Amino acid sequence: MKKINTYAVVGLGGRARMYLDAFAKSYCAQSRLVALCDRNQGRLELAAQFPAVAPFAPRLYSDLDFDRMIAETKPDTVIVVCQDSAHDTYICRAMELGCDVITEKPMTIDAVRTQRILDTQKKTGRKVRVTFNYRYSPPRTQVKELLMSGVIGDILSVDFQWMLDTYHGADYFRRWHRNKSNSGGLFVHKSTHHFDLVNWWLSAMPNEVVATGHRRFATPATAQRLGLHQPGPRCTGCAEATTCPFYLDLGANEELNALYRQQESFDGYHRDQCIFGPDIDIEDSMQALVNYDNGATLKYSLNAFCAWEGYAVQFNGTLGRLEHKCEETVYINGDGTVPGALKEEGTSIRIYPTRKPAYEVPVWTGEGGHGGGDDVMLRDLFAPEGDDKYLRDADHRGGAASILCGIAANRSIAEGGWVKVGGILNGLERPNYTAMPSSSTPIRLPLRA
Ligand SMILES: NC(=O)c1ccc[n+]([C@@H]2O[C@H](COP(=O)([O-])OP(=O)(O)OC[C@H]3O[C@@H](n4cnc5c(N)ncnc54)[C@H](O)[C@@H]3O)[C@@H](O)[C@H]2O)c1
Repeated sequence: MKKINTYAVVGLGGRARMYLDAFAKSYCAQSRLVALCDRNQGRLELAAQFPAVAPFAPRLYSDLDFDRMIAETKPDTVIVVCQDSAHDTYICRAMELGCDVITEKPMTIDAVRTQRILDTQKKTGRKVRVTFNYRYSPPRTQVKELLMSGVIGDILSVDFQWMLDTYHGADYFRRWHRNKSNSGGLFVHKSTHHFDLVNWWLSAMPNEVVATGHRRFATPATAQRLGLHQPGPRCTGCAEATTCPFYLDLGANEELNALYRQQESFDGYHRDQCIFGPDIDIEDSMQALVNYDNGATLKYSLNAFCAWEGYAVQFNGTLGRLEHKCEETVYINGDGTVPGALKEEGTSIRIYPTRKPAYEVPVWTGEGGHGGGDDVMLRDLFAPEGDDKYLRDADHRGGAASILCGIAANRSIAEGGWVKVGGILNGLERPNYTAMPSSSTPIRLPLRA
């Protein structure tokens, strides 16, 4: 008989729903939800009432009762989906109490917390899985397939631009993410996805990082330029509600109302803080150069107030160039819409073999959240079928390697200059990446015509 795996989920906001739905709808034969934990009592009780959750009748615990939850419900695995700055506490404690861990990205937000996770994992020998859903999005997996095939040879440089548009991008400045002490800033919170993709695409480790970052749009000065003279601390009750293009009416959306507005009295958290607030300390425009241990260099940018949502990435190899562009649908986190689905007409992959005609590659497609990656990842998490040739299941090593780039970038912004990644952590082992075309492979190019 197949073993039933038992799970506890910590953090019951917008993202947790993907996991809760998965247990009920697709993986009920092999998974059982035994406990829920959140520091907000209202969201905790709300989650227990979801149609997907109620049949499991999980036991409910506050954040202060985490140890008691583990002792009483004995989950095999704890799924950590709370605010980033608290990930390390639950990851480490769960391992110390004998559980494996699945954690949302970013694994954590700074070097001290990352070191604690690495040390605790080593001491306990438990498994940590970091859910990098972007690796599972079909076109991003396809890029990995193409690079592994050697079609452009070994990669010498990468240009990668990520765009958040004025709906989705603004949302990071309304929520807890607006402070580095909660999220590590977007260089950690958001770029962890992107640095992980590059690390994994190249099967390489970052060596050194130099970065700049600024807040240019989400500022009181922009509010003035938009003609907003009296913005309040939050959208609710704001004098500029009828004129501000960033006004969010939490009460008008059923999901946002239930998940956040109705739960404010429990912890005082406001999901609709003003994006022009003076207390924001994260950047909205970031650039980094990363030198890799295989000799490749990444030139990366993330901008949070763009005219379209998605990314463009270009790889220059010894045998050619690969260009991939992807437009995504726009969403507000937790509003019940599908987050970041692919726009097929805006997604392309083109190969430029050196000194030969370029050609378009038909793009692998997928439906659902985050470029079609969420559903594929859930299957790999809860009902894996055989070996994965792309090695998409990241552990603590991949989780650390991706946030290291952001941590180094934050340090470079604060102190200036190149930051050596190797000096930041002790005992980080190389992630389990796939083999790539060897740099000793002969290069054969057509002679000049
Ligand atoms: N992989 C992805 O594409 C993706 C998408 C969205 C969110 N996420 C990640 O999921 C996590 C949650 O994000 P979200 O959008 O659901 O945020 P959210 O604000 O909607 O929910 C966070 C929840 O955590 C709870 N919480 C906060 N601090 C806590 C603590 N110390 N102990 C227990 N509970 C605590 C809050 O009360 C809330 O219920 C974040 O780490 C985020 O990076 C990942």
